[in-house]
Amino acid sequence: MQIPDKKKVTIVGCGPGDKSYITQIGIDKIIESEILIGSKRLLEIFPDVSAKQILLGRDYNDLVENIKKLTLEYNKVVVLVSGDPGFFSLAKILTKKLGINNCNVIPGISSVQLAFARIGESWSDAQFMSLHGRDGELERLTQTIKENNKVAVLTDDINNPTRIAEALQKNNITNRTAYVFENLSAHNESIHEFSIRSLCNADINGMNIVIFM
Ligand SMILES: C[S@@+](CC[C@H](N)C(=O)[O-])C[C@H]1O[C@@H](n2cnc3c(N)ncnc32)[C@H](O)[C@@H]1O
Repeated sequence: MQIPDKKKVTIVGCGPGDKSYITQIGIDKIIESEILIGSKRLLEIFPDVSAKQILLGRDYNDLVENIKKLTLEYNKVVVLVSGDPGFFSLAKILTKKLGINNCNVIPGISSVQLAFARIGESWSDAQFMSLHGRDGELERLTQTIKENNKVAVLTDDINNPTRIAEALQKNNITNRTAYVFENLSAHNESIHEFSIRSLCNADINGMNIVIFM
């Protein structure tokens, strides 16, 4: 199934989570939308929007087919993604499968941008890796941290900061500082600095990224 001519699906980068970090054009697209698709966390940012809200599932093939069907009936289909759509995002799959000519991508502030801003460090000289939903990457991450002075890592519940620190310690990489940023932009945001050794025993539960320096 193809998307009808002249209909575009808008992908809005919602930033780290707090509404104030979303661009004005992103907000406008969300307010005007007829269909709003996103994770529970992102949909909850917009309880008052009149659009029909659709919870994002795990099956992205289903999602793509569903979006194509929705565009037959609706003109303003909006998909919410976290942070910036160009940075380790579902947007990559959507633009590939729907075709970039059928998508309108609205940039957002990435979680890593906010993290670097919080500690007053530039990110132009950093390396980036995502372990979010990716197994088998610990070895490559260890090597990347060994070879680079500044590495930012997206994590998940399994590939969490403690597990990364244990892998570094096992590889004798102990002379680095780790900054853990939890729940950036949320009321319970926290930022902590660890040695690799202390990170091995840390208790970190919130959504987070880690910068190794
Ligand atoms: C699928 S990736 C999406 C990254 C997103 N495109 C971006 O630019 O931030 C999700 C990961 O980003 C990180 N992340 C996103 N929002 C965050 C926040 N508010 N606080 C801390 N980490 C966050 C976490 O590592 C999370 O597992």
